[in-house]
Order: sequence, then C-alpha cells, then structure tokens
Amino acid sequence: MSAPDPAVRTLLLVGIGAGDPELLTLQAVSAIAALDVVLVLDKPGGATDLTRMREALVRRFAGDPAPRVLLLPDPPRDRGELDRPGYSGAVRSWHHRRADLLEAALAEQLLPGETAGILVWGDPAFYDSTVRLAQELERRGTVPLDWRVIPGISSIQLLAARHRLVLHGIGEPLHITTGRRLADAGTLQHENTVVMLDAGVSAAVLLQSPEAADRDAWIAWGAALGTPSEVLVAGRLAEVIDEIGRTRDAVRAERGWMMDISYLRRGGPPGVAD
Ligand SMILES: C[S@@+](CC[C@H](N)C(=O)[O-])C[C@H]1O[C@@H](n2cnc3c(N)ncnc32)[C@H](O)[C@@H]1O
Repeated sequence: MSAPDPAVRTLLLVGIGAGDPELLTLQAVSAIAALDVVLVLDKPGGATDLTRMREALVRRFAGDPAPRVLLLPDPPRDRGELDRPGYSGAVRSWHHRRADLLEAALAEQLLPGETAGILVWGDPAFYDSTVRLAQELERRGTVPLDWRVIPGISSIQLLAARHRLVLHGIGEPLHITTGRRLADAGTLQHENTVVMLDAGVSAAVLLQSPEAADRDAWIAWGAALGTPSEVLVAGRLAEVIDEIGRTRDAVRAERGWMMDISYLRRGGPPGVAD
C-alpha cells in the first residue's frame, strides 16, 4: 500500500438525521468528534433555526480542541431563474456557485492533513446537493481531497417510524417524488408514493383526479419530525387535507420554516395483509 498523500484534505459528508440529535448514528458521532473544521452552508441573512441546530450538534459531539466552524453564506438563488422550464439549469448554476465557495474554503481554511465536515440534514443520498458538490470538487481537482459519506436517518424513515408503517405492500415498489412533480402529474402513478419538498399541500390535486383511486387516497403526513414541533396526521386524504393545511400553517408560524413529508397510498390505507 502506498503512504497517504500528506497534502490531501479529508471531507466528510455526515448525515445527521432529520431533526432529533438522538438520531445520529455512532459513525456520525465519531465523525463529528474527529473534525478540525465544520463547514456550514448558511442561508443569507444570518443563522437560521436549522443552522443553530447544527451548531448545537457540534457543541454536543465535537472533540477537544473544538473544530473551527466556518459559516459559508449560501449564494442567493435567483427565483426568476428558477422558474420553469430552465429549472434544472438554474439549479446547476447555483450548485456551481456553491462549489466555488466550498473550493475556496477548503483551499484557504483547511490545512493539508486536516478533516472538514458538512453536516447534511437527514441522509445525503436524495434531495440534497452535497454529494454533487463533492463530486464537482473532485472533478475540478484543485484541492487534493479524500471525501466520504456517512449515512443518516432520513425523513422517510422517520415518517414511517412515527406512523408505524411499512411504506408498501409486500413486494411492491415505493416511488419517491417532489410536491412539484405530483402537482404536475395530477395523479398517483404508483401504488405507494412519498412526497418531499412540497411548497404547499400538493396532494390536493388528487381530489380533482378522474381516477377513483386518487380521490380515495390515504395519507400519512408529518411535519418538523424529530423536533419539539413535530406533528403527525393520517387518514383518508379527503377527510384530513384541511387539517394538514391548518397544521402546516401553524408549524410555519411557530418555527419560521416548514419541512413536511407525505406517504400516499392509492385507494386506501395499507392493509395488514399487504
Ligand atoms: C432538502 S430535503 C432533505 C431530505 C433529506 N436528504 C432526508 O434524508 O430526509 C428536505 C425535505 O426533506 C423532508 N424533511 C426533511 N426533514 C424533515 C423533517 N424533520 N420533518 C418532515 N420532513 C422533513 C421534507 O420533505 C423537506 O422538504
């Protein structure tokens, strides 16, 4: 085996679970304890609730000496730019600006041989761009980097656990999508669907669907899972949709942000024999 390159810096993408610090895996706890630098891609305008939650994790699990915490102001997204149809192109250009920021921070603030970490909400494997950022830095090759991913408990797992559900019948597939895509489709294209990144209650579109299985859909919904504001609602979509809308508004008013996730099943709730 060749000796490790002393110029290499290490970057750990650490999944921290979707809200509750107790959801960190032992690997995540060990990773945080080993960090020299924590990189926080912060929203413009100062510390958000979510940034403060990450900082609290660092205080709780960091080693001694404590890591340096670098707040990197997230480049603002141009909302006009993000309008369809050029949406994915606009997201790519925003990712590019974030990669520039991260590249500069790693080159200027992390010494060769040191380890930096990015604390990724939930699990980095979906609806999160941090892995793409690391891939882009590797492609550029300007900072010699060894990067690894520590998996975390995602909001999907947390939703299923809180509602005590298996998210599909025996052997059925599970479809994971966004609120935007569900609203565009206007129908559940699969037996079992998880909806994330929802700007409203996109499932409302199903109540207008010509398909009876859509109008009879069953929903298990959760917001702010793993936090003190956690709320859960489950039932026939048509019967609980107003309650979900009201609860959503109340959580947003209380916390200043809203993260919710839904599991939808065509035609009714999952049966015991499913
Ligand atoms: C940027 S994505 C991050 C998802 C993450 N990769 C994961 O593992 O869950 C944010 C979306 O995840 C869902 N989400 C994350 N944390 C949540 C939570 N604590 N409660 C409810 N939904 C959550 C919401 O759909 C939110 O719009």
